[in-house]
Amino acid sequence: MLLDSGLGGLTVLAEVRKVLPNAPVIYVADYAALPYGEKTERQIEARVPTLLGRLVERYRPRLVTIACNTASTIALSTVREALDLPIVGTVPAIKPAAALTKTGSIGLLGTAATIRQAYVDNLEAEFAAGKRLIRHAAPALVQAAEAKLRGQPVDPAVFAEAAEGLRSQPGGQDIDTVVLACTHFPLVEDELRAAFGQPVQFVHGAQGIARRVEHLTRGQSFLRTLPEFAVFTGDLYDLSALSPALKVYGIDHVDRF
Ligand code: DGL
Repeated sequence: MLLDSGLGGLTVLAEVRKVLPNAPVIYVADYAALPYGEKTERQIEARVPTLLGRLVERYRPRLVTIACNTASTIALSTVREALDLPIVGTVPAIKPAAALTKTGSIGLLGTAATIRQAYVDNLEAEFAAGKRLIRHAAPALVQAAEAKLRGQPVDPAVFAEAAEGLRSQPGGQDIDTVVLACTHFPLVEDELRAAFGQPVQFVHGAQGIARRVEHLTRGQSFLRTLPEFAVFTGDLYDLSALSPALKVYGIDHVDRF
């Protein structure tokens, strides 16, 4: 089972499919609580473990992946304490970014909630000591990614603002590597690349998460029955606009939870 606040976790699902093509996956979008990134720590701590507890009881997955940086950096340890099954989290990809940067200037785009987490401070101290990590909250990119998946137009100013939010900070002109610390953002990576102007490489954790899921389920047998379903909380009012994008990921129908 994969959980995100919306469809950002599809970027993780795509990588999981590559390494575990036969594994049945239930994708959960917690639309009733989107956006997680504008919520308080208390709200996320209250919401995510409780929702996952109910989902696990209902669907009995053998593993849960929190395909969301915001929920992982705030609630991963609480979820692990509450649930008796393997939980894979999403960690902002600061370690690989620090290994890749040539200039020593790394940008980090995430939600407002993610970029203020001690979890990120700790990753910075552990893996990016001696580098400059420049953070910027870009909540509008979440909406942009959701709109793109629905085939709706997005104002390019949204991407320009995100790029400028990093570049305008001290050291920002030297950024050569950008951590996409929200699972929605790889969905708009092309638009972000165009907005940056200067050549930058984008890094995110989806492949690493997929490798971790594969490792934790190694030796287990799977039977995937197609097509698969997703689970959405909240209203399903614009499902028809989302159906083509969901089909690309092998999801044919959606259950309301
Ligand atoms: N996709 C989520 C993340 O990785 C955040 C989106 C939201 O704000 O709900 O942080």
